[in-house]
Amino acid sequence: AFLGVDIGTSGTKTIAIAPDGTLIAQASASYPCHHPKPLWSEQDPEDWWQATVSTIRKVVKTAKLKPADVKSIGLSGQMHGSVFLDKNDQVVRPALLWNDQRTFAECEEIERLAGGRRKLVQMVANPALTGFTAPKILWLRNNEPKNFDRVAKVLLPKDDIRRRLTGEYATEVSDASGMLLVDVKRRKWSKPLLSKLEIDESLLATMHESEDVTGTLTPEAAQMLGLSTDCVVVGGAGDCAAGAIGNGIVKSGIVSTSLGTSGVVFVHSDEPQVDPEGRLHTFCHAVRGKWHMMGVTLSAAGSFGWFADQLCQVDAERAKRKKFNLFEELTAEATSTPAGAEGLFFLPYLSGERTPHADPLARGAFIGLTVAHTRAHMIRAVLEGVTYSLRDCLEIVESLGVATKQIRTTGGGAKSAFWRQLQADMFGKRVSAMASDEGPAMGVALLAAVGAGEYKDIVEATKATIRTTDQCKPSAAARRCYDRGFPVYRDLYQSLKDDFR
Ligand code: XUL
Repeated sequence: AFLGVDIGTSGTKTIAIAPDGTLIAQASASYPCHHPKPLWSEQDPEDWWQATVSTIRKVVKTAKLKPADVKSIGLSGQMHGSVFLDKNDQVVRPALLWNDQRTFAECEEIERLAGGRRKLVQMVANPALTGFTAPKILWLRNNEPKNFDRVAKVLLPKDDIRRRLTGEYATEVSDASGMLLVDVKRRKWSKPLLSKLEIDESLLATMHESEDVTGTLTPEAAQMLGLSTDCVVVGGAGDCAAGAIGNGIVKSGIVSTSLGTSGVVFVHSDEPQVDPEGRLHTFCHAVRGKWHMMGVTLSAAGSFGWFADQLCQVDAERAKRKKFNLFEELTAEATSTPAGAEGLFFLPYLSGERTPHADPLARGAFIGLTVAHTRAHMIRAVLEGVTYSLRDCLEIVESLGVATKQIRTTGGGAKSAFWRQLQADMFGKRVSAMASDEGPAMGVALLAAVGAGEYKDIVEATKATIRTTDQCKPSAAARRCYDRGFPVYRDLYQSLKDDFR
């Protein structure tokens, strides 16, 4: 068997698959996210480790796997997070996450030190955005110098788990691209930018391709997990690239949308193409020698989760007591309202926004409320607002001439047939669900299978294992409604943005 571990923002999910990609067992464990100040978002790396250990053990137990049965492990995780370690591998402070927005000043500093935005994009294919890792390193240097002086390594979330599993400081190209320190075209650390930012390369991990073996389990880790020291850990991938692999996005023309805490529109690219305006990220793909572009909306299913937590507490308690799915219940409520929510709009910028605005100070809003609106309208408006934001990403992809023939959707939000249909209606394209939607964990379990020699490469592995199902076709009437709504949605941000500064 091969294991895939995804260290997400709301929890960690581990799966075990058979060589043909069949799911054998899975387990998840959740942990909190802390927001000690308005723009801050942090987690304790120890929580990720505990969740990794407990979910791997659970999977091994459920599937009755013997140590020799598990050949390899693939790691995926939330991208961009900064785990700051001292020389004894102790965490210096909580990790700053991908949706942390405190590094506004450092982004300006990076562009200045790089010699301007154009030069920066030449070096690392992307502009400086608050969520990326390099600005977090500068923030620590500027704001917590005593902590900075103790830092001996900066690792991404999943790579810190790799260190605990294998003892190696290693990373791979897809996740590392999101640190803003990688020469994305050449797939290695950008020495020119590191020198301009005065960041010592020794702080960073060794770079690998995603399907390469980065180490084997230490005796302690093997014993703790009930696995063998022969079990290898492959590079794996950042959760976006891993999720895309799990959707079979390994060649041009197929696009995936993913509805997790954040929402991602992801396209494969045979060449490292760059959006001149820097609205889309260009990163290395987890497919050897290939790249991808993606747009990220920061609060996708996260917006829905916020709504449910804050405004549907009674329902949440009832759901817990009676063991029904709150998400299904609330989306079912929204079906009673018409497309367009009778003029109610929601801007999903609860954590600021990346694509297309790159604006950490963007704010969420309900606009257009009347006494005739019900909670059902508000739920629909939240789902529509998030999907408009994905459409924003998709339109940029298309404006660059990239083909978007087929859309495959994934993530917690994609489990809702209502939300899948909404995407088809809003994009005016067919949208497929995945036959087995295990998300990023599946992508890295397949990379693990490649690393263990089961498949020649990840393209062959996805071809043999990944299937779509349940295609939604756009409805012409709903499509017209969203075509009218989209420019209104876009204008609302432009009209409101200055009021939030
Ligand atoms: C991608 C991003 C998010 C996180 C979420 O750039 O910031 O999708 O990876 O886990």
